Amino acid sequence: MLDLFPVTASRDGGELVIGGVRTSAIAEAHGTPLLVYCEQTLVEQARAYRRAAPDALVVYGAKAFPNVALLQLFAREGLGADVSTLGELEAARRARVPPERLVVHGNNKSDDELRAAARAGAGLLVLDALDEVERAAAAGIRRVLVRVTSGIEADTHEAIRTSHHGSKFGLPADAALEAVRQAGAAGLDVAGLHVHIGSQLLDLQAARMTIEWLAAFAARCRQELAWTPALVDVGGGLGVAHVDDERPPPVETFVGGLVRTLEQAWALHDLPRPQVVLEPGRSLVGRAGVTLYRVGVVKRATEAITYVAVDGGMSDNPRPQLYGGRYTALLANRAGERAAGTYSVAGKHCEADTLIGHVELAEPRRGDLLAVPATGAYTLAMASSYNLVPLPAAVLVGDGRVRQIRRRQSVDDLLAYDAL
Ligand SMILES: Cc1ncc(COP(=O)(O)O)c(C=O)c1O
Repeated sequence: MLDLFPVTASRDGGELVIGGVRTSAIAEAHGTPLLVYCEQTLVEQARAYRRAAPDALVVYGAKAFPNVALLQLFAREGLGADVSTLGELEAARRARVPPERLVVHGNNKSDDELRAAARAGAGLLVLDALDEVERAAAAGIRRVLVRVTSGIEADTHEAIRTSHHGSKFGLPADAALEAVRQAGAAGLDVAGLHVHIGSQLLDLQAARMTIEWLAAFAARCRQELAWTPALVDVGGGLGVAHVDDERPPPVETFVGGLVRTLEQAWALHDLPRPQVVLEPGRSLVGRAGVTLYRVGVVKRATEAITYVAVDGGMSDNPRPQLYGGRYTALLANRAGERAAGTYSVAGKHCEADTLIGHVELAEPRRGDLLAVPATGAYTLAMASSYNLVPLPAAVLVGDGRVRQIRRRQSVDDLLAYDAL
């Protein structure tokens, strides 16, 4: 199971160690629930993307965990950022991500967001609707992509499928063609096209079909508009293994396959080879993150179900509720012990709030530390303060050192929003 954890994970004296630090020491110093990010895993994933596509612009899909320290780390590795709100844009700005490496998204960008993107000097704005063309030009935006929906259904949860017919994102082919035409007429530099078919992809099939479809669409643009994309942004999407039976391809295979498909499809239509943009989120940060919880109540509900209740739950990780996200876990302070049975891990919220339906664990006791791997993406990023539970902290570990990268919220922080 350790291969679901960050690359530096090991057992030492029966305890889980990440980045050279015992998890019990991390939890003692920073409290629980706690999101622990392994620096080496983040760096290795970023470098894998750069190696797999050396000519591509790789931008971190910041929505997976929009954190200034992680944006900074990725910027040092040569990555940019894909941002889709004022908040994410500001995080990237504070991380000093070079503006030319900023890609600005959003299916409903406000005028404020368009102006902020222009002021930040963002390299690319992705047009998502025809009504954005004039507004983007008026806001001072210069260079744009047009997001197009292929109609191809990615094999993933419907909530994270984004390029099917009926998607709220992007434009179907005819409207996308019109957006290219109108954007050119409005004086925008229409650099290229964008597609993103969905997230948590475990194979290349739908992505390949989409790129082939996109090449045919680019050929249609050439024929009808005498315009070809100089730049093609194929989004993110590569999945992460949260449990043993999820096996996504490695970055090298996924990205290598995409780039080869693009080269072949573009050659087939005799189109000039475009520059590629990639927007990985989950695959950069998912495996790097481990959530540490403290075990509280252990309760037998039926012959078959024993609950292990932890001090977080759906407020720090809503994926089980939103997408039926599956996880596994181990007792971090007794990581070498054999399983004593199968348990259900429950959160502390006033819902069923089941974090893990069934997991084999050493016999859990109050005070144990439960480690849930592959929780670096779309967990804290999607967190809520349901039941007025403060948001957890996050730390970055590497070379035996721990650095806080997000402060723990307090009850006072939460109540500061209430007006009397
Ligand atoms: C436009 C766009 N690009 C990139 C991403 C990142 O996707 P992932 O985290 O699956 O790599 C998303 C996420 O949904 C997205 O909507």
